[in-house]
Amino acid sequence: MADFENVTKAVVPAAGLGTRFLPATKATPKEMLPIVDKPAIQYVVEEAVSAGLLDVLMVTGRHKRSIEDHFDVAYELEDALRAKGDEERLSQVQELVDLATMHYVRQGEPKGLGHAVLCAKQHVGDEPFACLLGDDLIDPRDPLLKRMIEVRGTYGGSVIALMEVPREQVSLYGCAAIEATEQDDVVRVTDLVEKPPADEAPSNWAVIGRYVIDPAVFEVLENTPPGRGGEIQLTDALRTLASRGSDEGGPVHGVLFRGRRYDTGNKLDYLRTVVQFAAGRDDLAPEFIPWLREFLDQAGS
Ligand code: UTP
Repeated sequence: MADFENVTKAVVPAAGLGTRFLPATKATPKEMLPIVDKPAIQYVVEEAVSAGLLDVLMVTGRHKRSIEDHFDVAYELEDALRAKGDEERLSQVQELVDLATMHYVRQGEPKGLGHAVLCAKQHVGDEPFACLLGDDLIDPRDPLLKRMIEVRGTYGGSVIALMEVPREQVSLYGCAAIEATEQDDVVRVTDLVEKPPADEAPSNWAVIGRYVIDPAVFEVLENTPPGRGGEIQLTDALRTLASRGSDEGGPVHGVLFRGRRYDTGNKLDYLRTVVQFAAGRDDLAPEFIPWLREFLDQAGS
């Protein structure tokens, strides 16, 4: 294995406006919307930790309080649970605080995902880092980030996660032009296009919200003009890195992910995600699934 620097830090951009989820996201970040009983962002931080990344930088915006509070000590709540003797809930609340070393930086204006990543520059420094978007949940049974970090260890540069989607859906994603490598689940990314029309997409492989990024991205982002929607796009910066050699921050590889991913960024997919998570929970499924069946039978009649 080549001698590339270890990945130890995770960056979680959570400063978007979440307009697809208004009015819920007027005063609450969409990353705090619950998937059953945990906010989406908690699953994301747990995923980073289980990939060995204990240093987590959250890029927040207007509504940072609730995110910070969620990962911070809640003395009154702890006292109340202790007084009631509710040890189980008490330890759930306390474990959250020790999960990772959390850091926060504010984005100011939401000028796009690329701009949010650029806000992490000072904290990350000259090291490769992982970037996890709170909209995408990856099933813990199908670990992806660990594999991406391994791939970065082999090839250097940056690594993105790709998932095959039906052609009519590619226009919802960033899309990659790819070349095979000697490893079945790894491709070389030769080009990236943000939300292409179906007939112009270079492949059916869509970029999903997990990245391992070379620090050269910061210099590229600083020189990336706003693209679609006046926002600085991370895809545009990765596209530049994909065209570079290893001495300039390239190349970009893709890990082909065939596991379970849940989208929570829009209402319909969010509902699907909540139902799937609830149906997978031992404490809820025995009552929830029969109820759901009955509900659907009645709705269909
Ligand atoms: P989205 O593209 O889903 O945008 O961001 P959004 O603003 O959150 O949501 P909509 O489209 O208005 O409904 C993808 C990820 O990038 C973060 C978001 O928080 C989300 O996790 N992001 C986006 C930022 O941190 N800053 C930005 O300026 C834009």
